[in-house]
Amino acid sequence: MSEISYPFEPFKIKTVESIPVTTRKEREKILWDVAKGNIFNVPARAITIDLLTDSGTGAMSDMQWAAIMSGDESYASSKSWEVLEATAREIFGMPFILPAHQGRGAEHLVLTVLLESITRPVVPGNGHFDTTSGHIQWAGGVGVDCICDEARDPHNDSPFKGDLDPGKLRAEIKKAGVGNVPLVILTITANTAAGQPVSMKCIRDVSAVCKEYGIPLFFDAARFSENAYFIKTREKGYGNKPIPEIVKEMFSYVDGASMSSKKDGLVNIGGLVVCRDRELYRKLANMATLFEGFPTYGGQAGRDIAALAVGLREGMDEHYLAWRIGQTRYLGAKLRENGVPVFWPTGGHAVYLNISEAMEDMPLAAYPGIAFQNAVYVEGGVRVCEIGTILAGRDPDTGEDRHPRFELVRLAIPRRVYTQTQMDYVVGTITKVYEGRENLKGIRLIYEPPVLRHFTAEYAEMELARKG
Ligand SMILES: Cc1ncc(COP(=O)(O)O)c(C=O)c1O
Repeated sequence: MSEISYPFEPFKIKTVESIPVTTRKEREKILWDVAKGNIFNVPARAITIDLLTDSGTGAMSDMQWAAIMSGDESYASSKSWEVLEATAREIFGMPFILPAHQGRGAEHLVLTVLLESITRPVVPGNGHFDTTSGHIQWAGGVGVDCICDEARDPHNDSPFKGDLDPGKLRAEIKKAGVGNVPLVILTITANTAAGQPVSMKCIRDVSAVCKEYGIPLFFDAARFSENAYFIKTREKGYGNKPIPEIVKEMFSYVDGASMSSKKDGLVNIGGLVVCRDRELYRKLANMATLFEGFPTYGGQAGRDIAALAVGLREGMDEHYLAWRIGQTRYLGAKLRENGVPVFWPTGGHAVYLNISEAMEDMPLAAYPGIAFQNAVYVEGGVRVCEIGTILAGRDPDTGEDRHPRFELVRLAIPRRVYTQTQMDYVVGTITKVYEGRENLKGIRLIYEPPVLRHFTAEYAEMELARKG
């Protein structure tokens, strides 16, 4: 009997949506004939459990739907905006709030404004998310990764593997020259490092380094409340502090943040920028007017803004967070109990399977992450996502595939959507694929676009010689 228990759900279900149940034969046909082997092209109507992303896929509460009905659609300074502005000011302790259409819209504003006056800007962080890296490059800069060494070990039990190493940060600042570092970004939690959290100590230390050099520190705050919950449960001195107090303290060390509201904001679309400095706000607001919309709606409908004001508070509810983080841990622990290699410990929003370990005898040229991901779909209609060689793309100079440190497959869990039985179904499906992994065929590319190939590439299966 397993010792791993499922956390208590602090909500009950008021609306249901049926999910498709398909046969293996139907799934094989859809995957290969319709989707050409690319899981992104499989229609959602043929997916039983969708773990492609936790972004914008959560369920809103009755109170959020009520807020939707009372959304004020006035173009400027709507009632819904006033509520969101007051809520965000209170939660983050920042005076200036600017909505954007989603996280990358918020990043576009911050990075364009902060990077524009520097010829070769360098932006250190703890593993930038891909849209962040994209915007840094777009603004003519380069991102550098200063994440701690523990993040690179899938078995290390350390509690804050998303921490940025202040020593590495200092070295990068010296290397680039202070004047070429327009900001430092801390991503909470670190999505590219398996959703691992960042400690308060790290936030404090990084803030001290930034102050010493006069460099602004920003959060990429998509999962700020999940990060706060990890601080509460793992960091000494925070166990008795309420989540809103922890969030306030986290933000007290930074100059601003960009945020996708589609995660811990518990809404399906939206983004935010928050900052302390009036001059910076004015520049951001000017840009926002050009690219996002008037600074009190930023590309969002009044009703979406109203739902976000409610979602930001619900996302900080401790009972909800205990369930949310507990559900992720349950999924990871059950898989690990069955022998499936899981990046450990589990982070907040997703479980990452270590395919480098699970499929070590399949050559990387046969794209084992895609082979595993596709097999999971065929086995049980579960959509998961490769974070490996295909996602990493090709080296622009050599044209060769880039191989990340680990081939991973990500199981991202939408918020307030799936039940224990459904998680058990996922465990069963993945365990079965893992146990039969020796029979999986390799994958070859039959079409490959020049950029972001994972979205539209087409694949075929191939027989292959195994390593060793
Ligand atoms: C850490 C992080 N930053 C930024 C983004 C971009 O947000 P959006 O998808 O709302 O544009 C994401 C989205 O997944 C994210 O995880």
